Amino acid sequence: MTTTTTTTAETVLDASGVTMRFGGLTAVRSVDLTVNSGEIVGLIGPNGAGKTTFFNCLTGLYVPTEGRVSYKGTVLPPKPHLVTQAGVARTFQNIRLFSNMTVLENVLVGRHTRTKEGLWSALLRGPGFKRAEAESRERAMELLEFTGLAAKADHLARNLPYGEQRKLEIARALASDPGLLLLDEPTAGMNPQETRAAEDLIFAIRDQGIAVLVIEHDMRFIFNLCDRVACLVQGEKLVEGSPEVVQGDDRVVAAYLGTPFEGAPGAEEVAEVEAAEAEAAASTPADAVSEGRESTTRTTGPEKETP
Ligand SMILES: Nc1ncnc2c1ncn2[C@@H]1O[C@H](COP(=O)(O)OP(=O)(O)OP(=O)(O)O)[C@@H](O)[C@H]1O
Ligand SMILES: [Mg+2]
Repeated sequence: MTTTTTTTAETVLDASGVTMRFGGLTAVRSVDLTVNSGEIVGLIGPNGAGKTTFFNCLTGLYVPTEGRVSYKGTVLPPKPHLVTQAGVARTFQNIRLFSNMTVLENVLVGRHTRTKEGLWSALLRGPGFKRAEAESRERAMELLEFTGLAAKADHLARNLPYGEQRKLEIARALASDPGLLLLDEPTAGMNPQETRAAEDLIFAIRDQGIAVLVIEHDMRFIFNLCDRVACLVQGEKLVEGSPEVVQGDDRVVAAYLGTPFEGAPGAEEVAEVEAAEAEAAASTPADAVSEGRESTTRTTGPEKETP
């Protein structure tokens, strides 16, 4: 992290005791996480670990079952548009663009939380509206320059290659002038060159004073980019620390490989299920057991549970 002795880091995001249950499934369990100004924080974990669910709790898409999320000292209301207005922007794991709108129009949509012109002004297209529209366009074009998409401003979003659609999502998120940007798998589907460029783009975003929390499966990308990394496993925060610490933690490797380790989140439940299944198998006729029953040797792997 590039801080000087005179810089005091401010807590931008403070998530405390965030739990999200879906029926019987606890997708996120009592997770604490902070992001400070000037930081890029990574969130890793196997498939189904609860990373996206956690993002959804942070951004008001889900109302957490328990816990609290604050942005710069103020508790965030669990409503996506209010969270955006407060200064938290995000991109989605499954790209959500307006595919039949142009690249520029997509960024303008992201800008609307920052325009003060109301409905009547927009309908009557008065001078205030025209001025606001011109300013929004200017800012949107700046963001397209920044993300390297300016030459494609008039292209339909659906005609962009996948990597550029991801960049456009970032440009649209930046249009709301956030203080914190949440990125859910920003390099998924990118080739190595695009991934490198995405890394540079995220550093540049951080250098503009926007704190970043990023989910990614590409470990080289995460460990290169982040000041701090937290690893979720089965909804619980297993490890948090510098890239070096997390990289060297055997439990993180074990969690990804699905091998057992002492005190693994969910290990007790898995052991109980396995014991119950073994008991059921012992008391079931052999032909019933052999009929397409799945292996029950999973330990701490990321298999999804049914709510
Ligand atoms: N709306 C929902 N209703 C019920 N269960 C859900 C819902 N959203 C997520 N889950 C479950 O919560 C768990 C965590 O899912 P989530 O998508 O957060 O994982 P993830 O860490 O983002 O995984 P991936 O790396 O594959 O994107 C999974 O078991 C998933 O099936
Ligand atoms: Mg996800």
